[in-house]
Amino acid sequence: MKNGIAVVYYSWSPDGNTRFAAETIAKKVGADIFEIKAEKPYSSDFRTCCDEAQPECRGKKQRAILPIEGLKLENYSLVFIGSPNWWGTLAPPVRTFAEKNLEELKGKKVCLFQTHGGGGMQNLGRDFAEIFGDKATVLTPKAFTGSSVRQSVEELEKFAAERAEK
Ligand SMILES: Cc1cc2nc3c(=O)[nH]c(=O)nc-3n(C[C@H](O)[C@H](O)[C@H](O)COP(=O)(O)O)c2cc1C
Repeated sequence: MKNGIAVVYYSWSPDGNTRFAAETIAKKVGADIFEIKAEKPYSSDFRTCCDEAQPECRGKKQRAILPIEGLKLENYSLVFIGSPNWWGTLAPPVRTFAEKNLEELKGKKVCLFQTHGGGGMQNLGRDFAEIFGDKATVLTPKAFTGSSVRQSVEELEKFAAERAEK
């Protein structure tokens, strides 16, 4: 679907907060939805995952991701990109997706949404914009509280509709 909208997200926790946000956004604007998966998944244990992710996040490092089946970025003019807030920045698989697809995302609109555990936006918006520089049109990002994301459907839908209009 040329000039379409895609939602690409990464989600780690069993609650799937970012997944829920992604699904709600995609449904609202009729977008295709794709999940980013780490080639080597993080531990399913919270503390171990935090330990694994910390040096990567602090160092703004990539984490290898699996190819995303069926995703053809040339078909989209707007790409929503969803990440959990990890150590105040993007989860490394999301950074990897953005950095690896910089050429493919060139000239498109990209819009970050994130879910967090209380820290809010922290550095995610800044770090996301920094990746794209002037290569893409970076729309205003939004942070959603992970624990109450299922009570934020209206807010998610409003965000999705407003960004899709731009
Ligand atoms: C490795 C790791 C680091 C995290 N760091 C932060 C943080 O710095 N600030 C924050 O508000 N929440 C932090 N959280 C909480 C998550 O951002 C939050 O629970 C999010 O909604 C999870 O999304 P998910 O269910 O899609 O994985 C962290 C969670 C993990 C696993």
